[in-house]
Amino acid sequence: MKYKTIFEPFKIKTVEPIRITTEKQREHYLKKAHYNPFFLHSDDVLIDLLTDSGTSAMSAAQWSAMMSGDESYAGAKSWLRLEKEIHDLTGFEFILPTHQGRAAERILYGYLGGKGKVFISNTHFDTTRANIEFTGATAIDIPMPESSMIEFDHPFKGNMDTAKLESLVETYGATNISAIILTVTNNSGGGQPVSMHNAREVSAICKKYKLLFILDCCRIAENSYFIRNREKGFKSKSYRTIAQEMFALADGCIMSAKKDAFANIGGFLALKNKHLAEACTNLLIITEGFVTYGGLAGRDMDAIAVGLQEIFDPDYLHYRISSTGYLADHLHKMGIPLIMPSVGHAVYIDAAKLYPHIPVQEYPGQALVCELYLKGGIRCVEIGSVMFGKYDARGKLIPASKELVRLAIPRRVYTQSHIDYVIEVFEEIIKAKESAHGLRITHELELLRHFTAHFEKI
Ligand SMILES: Cc1ncc(COP(=O)(O)O)c(C=O)c1O
Repeated sequence: MKYKTIFEPFKIKTVEPIRITTEKQREHYLKKAHYNPFFLHSDDVLIDLLTDSGTSAMSAAQWSAMMSGDESYAGAKSWLRLEKEIHDLTGFEFILPTHQGRAAERILYGYLGGKGKVFISNTHFDTTRANIEFTGATAIDIPMPESSMIEFDHPFKGNMDTAKLESLVETYGATNISAIILTVTNNSGGGQPVSMHNAREVSAICKKYKLLFILDCCRIAENSYFIRNREKGFKSKSYRTIAQEMFALADGCIMSAKKDAFANIGGFLALKNKHLAEACTNLLIITEGFVTYGGLAGRDMDAIAVGLQEIFDPDYLHYRISSTGYLADHLHKMGIPLIMPSVGHAVYIDAAKLYPHIPVQEYPGQALVCELYLKGGIRCVEIGSVMFGKYDARGKLIPASKELVRLAIPRRVYTQSHIDYVIEVFEEIIKAKESAHGLRITHELELLRHFTAHFEKI
């Protein structure tokens, strides 16, 4: 389009009201939620940027496909449609439906894991890491070195450090390495994309050492957008073809359909190897359900099948990446420190840099999360020492490598005015910077503590 306005390539048919709240009310809600926005009621939130997972607005085509959902226990038509769609897209022969991404992770990594086993990734997502560590195995992150330079401009900061990958294979021995997981885009590494060149290199190393290469592909369409627009040699290819080229490099994939499949629930595991697929099928039946529904209703499978086609629409992808980029550029110009270059599904703010007066032990990221809710009713998530911090033997916090806050943008849900509102709230955040204060944890669970921790103000 010749005009500069970011144009949402859809019309709104159904609306959901947003209840307007005051700062005073939000102060009360936040205290009641123990300063952890996961405990807030959604009705008390103005703009919900907690996650882009399962929060998409479905299209008319998806809703109508849901009406033809076949709820048969076995061999449902919905399953056959979904299976065909996944097969056509990924090329993998064995497809196991699951109720969401982490169920596929638990099945595959539960089977492959165990004490003494090692998994290596550009960055394990939190549920990926938790599922691996739960088996007693070790999860090692090897993002490229530039990924830790928050404002450093590089087109593919989600890449894996392939030199390190080879040296780790030497260190641990190929037989002890259960899988190499390439997460595209690299969510916990700032949502940065992975280049095809990097995927090819990872694939070649996996072939050389006979290692299993798994793609965590829940944002594969957004990743394909970056490859087409940032990597040489892809301009004339469609986004779907680029995704297919990446799938062809791997031995299997795990997908949370709650992201780049525009679905509110669902996921799958797809594999090349029959023996591995059979082992996983055993586990699927025990916990998820029969092989042709895996914990999903027929109508959900139809929604995913349609979503997997819609996500590669060039107009949608252009709007999606431009809209997130618009938010990132405005915040950057305002002086908010954030991971650059901008990515597809979220903006990641460096809270430690924004609040240098709050030590990591007092969780600057959580402080910003609370401020954004208080000042503007915006809900988002800390991706720092609350999420990834550990304790040493004496109970001292071992902080995460970064103190980030993620503003994830649900797909097709908010308009450009909502994005402008978020930018305006940040003007307030900057003005009130000095008065933000840290928090201490008063209650936590052992695994994935960020979901359920309670905090109090310091
Ligand atoms: C990269 C990545 N992998 C796995 C998952 C887990 O998927 P789910 O939330 O569907 O269990 C997520 C969810 O956010 C993710 O971003």
